[in-house]
Amino acid sequence: MNARYPFKLMLALLISTFFAAQGQAQSTQTGAVNVRERILMDAGWHFALGNANDQHKDFDFATIPFFFAKAGYGDGPASPKFDDRTWRIVNLPHDWAVELPFDRRGDGNHGSKAIGRNFPENSVGWYRKTFTIPAEDFGRRIGIDFDGVYRDSQVWVNGFYLGTEPSGYTSFHYDMTDYLNYGGTNVVVVRANATIEEGWFYEGAGIYRHVWLTKTGPVHVAHDGTFISATVTDPTAAHPEAQVTAQVTVRNDSESSAHFTIGEEIEDAAGQFVAQSLAFDAGASAGASSDFSATVPVHGAHLWSLEDPYLYKLITTIKSGDKVVDRYETSFGIRTIRWDADHGFFLNGKHVEIKGTDDHQDHAGVGVALPDALNAFRVERLKAMGSNAIRTSHNPPTPELLDACDRLGMLVLDENRAMGVTPEDYGQFRRLILRDRNHPSVVLWSIGNEEWSLEPSVFGERITRDMQAYGRRLDPTRPFTVALSGSGAGNSLSTDVLGFNYYVQHHIDEMHVRFPLKPIVGTEESSSEHTRGIYADDLGHQHLVAYDFEADGHHVSAEDAWRYYLARPFAAGLFYWTGFDYRGETTPFEWPAISSQFGMLDTCGFFKDNAHLLQSWWTDKPMVHLLPHWNWPGKDGQPIDVRVYSNADAIELFLNGKSLGRKAMPRNSHLEWKVAYEPGTLAARGYNVAGSEVASDTVETAGAAAAIQLIPNTAKVAADGESVSVVTVRINDGAGRIVPEAGNLVSFSLTGPGKIIGVGNGDPASHEPDKYVESVSTVPAVEWRTRSIDARADGPETALGFDDSSWEKARDPRWDERRIDPAASVFRGAFTLPEDAQDAAITLVLRSVGETQSIYVNGHALGLNLRRDPVGYTYALDRGLLKPGRNVVTIFATRFNDKGAGLFYWDGPGPAAVQVITPAPQWKRSAFNGLAQVIIQSTPQAGSIKLKAESPGLAPAEIEIASQ
Ligand code: GAL
Repeated sequence: MNARYPFKLMLALLISTFFAAQGQAQSTQTGAVNVRERILMDAGWHFALGNANDQHKDFDFATIPFFFAKAGYGDGPASPKFDDRTWRIVNLPHDWAVELPFDRRGDGNHGSKAIGRNFPENSVGWYRKTFTIPAEDFGRRIGIDFDGVYRDSQVWVNGFYLGTEPSGYTSFHYDMTDYLNYGGTNVVVVRANATIEEGWFYEGAGIYRHVWLTKTGPVHVAHDGTFISATVTDPTAAHPEAQVTAQVTVRNDSESSAHFTIGEEIEDAAGQFVAQSLAFDAGASAGASSDFSATVPVHGAHLWSLEDPYLYKLITTIKSGDKVVDRYETSFGIRTIRWDADHGFFLNGKHVEIKGTDDHQDHAGVGVALPDALNAFRVERLKAMGSNAIRTSHNPPTPELLDACDRLGMLVLDENRAMGVTPEDYGQFRRLILRDRNHPSVVLWSIGNEEWSLEPSVFGERITRDMQAYGRRLDPTRPFTVALSGSGAGNSLSTDVLGFNYYVQHHIDEMHVRFPLKPIVGTEESSSEHTRGIYADDLGHQHLVAYDFEADGHHVSAEDAWRYYLARPFAAGLFYWTGFDYRGETTPFEWPAISSQFGMLDTCGFFKDNAHLLQSWWTDKPMVHLLPHWNWPGKDGQPIDVRVYSNADAIELFLNGKSLGRKAMPRNSHLEWKVAYEPGTLAARGYNVAGSEVASDTVETAGAAAAIQLIPNTAKVAADGESVSVVTVRINDGAGRIVPEAGNLVSFSLTGPGKIIGVGNGDPASHEPDKYVESVSTVPAVEWRTRSIDARADGPETALGFDDSSWEKARDPRWDERRIDPAASVFRGAFTLPEDAQDAAITLVLRSVGETQSIYVNGHALGLNLRRDPVGYTYALDRGLLKPGRNVVTIFATRFNDKGAGLFYWDGPGPAAVQVITPAPQWKRSAFNGLAQVIIQSTPQAGSIKLKAESPGLAPAEIEIASQ
């Protein structure tokens, strides 16, 4: 930070004030159009797999002399000249790992995908995106923001190396200003290497979060350069008084010192003016940053809470004279938090029991590449269960997850990935805090999880203390915790808040006595394993009963965990391991299991019975949930374990209309019956203390599967290429009852402006694909031979069978100084079509190899006397002119005016290659215990999306989703 305009001085200069009149706010916006832009860069990346071990298969990357020694020498795909026309086009977020097959040689903890050390051919991904920058942008600061790339990413722009980010979870930013072509095209290139893992769970691979292009003036609010905090005099008052403090870092990237005014303005959720600071004079030296602070009173503040997640916006305006040079918006909420060592957690002065879950970023169908709407969908599912908190185990989350939590009302324990105090560790930790500290949902930071070498050691005590002190300087408003698997020594001695993973591993009561000033929260709990819809263990299929039984001696039932924390009001509550099932960590199974089963919900977000169990403790709206299903052919008269989860006061059970008795419903527990099976209807009715029925649930014996039902979570999406509709696929009997064990294979077809981006069913052992994607491969033309000619002629040289063995082998002229190129040459090369290419679309791409050229395939002329072209030529090849196996490309070329004729002036697949696109097979997925899921995403076109589902022997279903 620059000391020339010291923070204290500026603070003294500040006169914060409050204007009730709306009109006064308008002035700061004058001329504010487009001073800052943030452009989503999700669409149209060219993607191909490279290779972690074989340099040639890694597109000869890092092979030219000086490739890393000199600026702008990025080679292979990192070179702007590289030809990526044959690569597949993908949109972000993109996870290439989820597209790969399952393989027992893959890492079971990571979901047994064919990626990692044993699969060098699948572990490096290259992404290239071409974009234009208008000439008028010259003079602005232009940067690129990556929300997260898994992992070990290297980035180039126009061949200039920008940097390496080892973390697969930390957001990062590069300034590209000096490297860009203004008024021209630019290419940004990312190489991600997912060979080495970071976590111990499925982590995906690639650019699985958004990328943004940012443009500002030279004097601008620094990257993540605002920090908003609020004090509230009496948060329980009807119209609380708040003081909102905005700290802003302004960066001056110009070559001279800058003088400007800076002003803050607050808007409410309706966009109405609320309050502002007086704009005041300020400055920053050339190439430096300055910090400013303003405190603005907000009368009658509308507080952010779980029930009413109200958001304000702070608008920071920087002006040079009358000209607005930056206008920066920060979303924030006004709320107070308090972590109390004796009474737990308080939001706005009111006690809130933490009813949380731990979650990885991983969903059926899409892996870790979650569209924003899917993040919101997941938060909504957790809220429906009554949960009020998410721990982003074990890494910084996607920022849009936090946006969803802010908007929907969900607390967040925001977790750092690696513990350590090196510049790399601190760089990642710092970026996490700067990025996330304005989110009202974030109420606690976690600096690490189960650091086994730090828990018992003095290193842990020191590192925890240092990291917290460092973090506190960036955010003094929230405490820090570490999720501990062992306590009593090491990092548990210095952490602000004691975070306990699994009470059975600690002496929590003793720790409370020993550290009476430290708040306590259960950062992980239970870890019991259940499969949705399974009521008898089926180890052969890796399925485990869904009853909330004690899992094993080490982990405990959901009920024991909840009751343990309820009995300790000094603790703030708990986070269950986990909200959703996730790929990998297949405990207690090994291959062929591919997914964990810890979730209260499965990988699709379908409730397991335990989600209803939590709902019965965590929500007030009357509910009854009855299990198991009621399809037990062959078990007539045998006792079935029946359970009821409810928040009613009493439950009466009825089998085919006959009462089986009424029982008082114990709080924070469940009811059990043994019921002699008889097909029909089992009903549980819930009553309040007055004896009135408040809720009920029934399970009915279903007949044979007869029909498919499609139920979208929303029938309307935005036509923006980002929105999604999450569609439930249900298998019903003839009377519309779900068939609880149905596993019918359902095929999907879609028409209109949408696409299916993933399918799933929540079966932790299913090896069915999550994705059906087209296969795109590049077959370079090779074996090039050449001979000089006097003039082009449609001679015998173009024929497939022509014998060119006496011709000279074509060489790379760049490294052959002695070479004298003839005035004209003929070149012949061959490409071999893969055997399975019958249905493939074949496209030939060529670069110019001379000043003019004529191009033939198997004797058929494709283009005659074509002028040299910087991009090259592209031909969709008619199947009629292709032969199975070997095909020949012939090029007649005149020498370049400014250099010799040659094939190898280009990077990339060579002078000619064919792209082979094999269309994706039809999307399909089996139901698992009656349910499956299809995720549909809009395109940028509006219209009607129609999804049809079919399965042999079942009535098909069709739904329409309006994309607007
Ligand atoms: C914990 C760990 C979690 C997960 C869980 C499974 O020890 O922190 O990431 O592995 O065990 O029970």
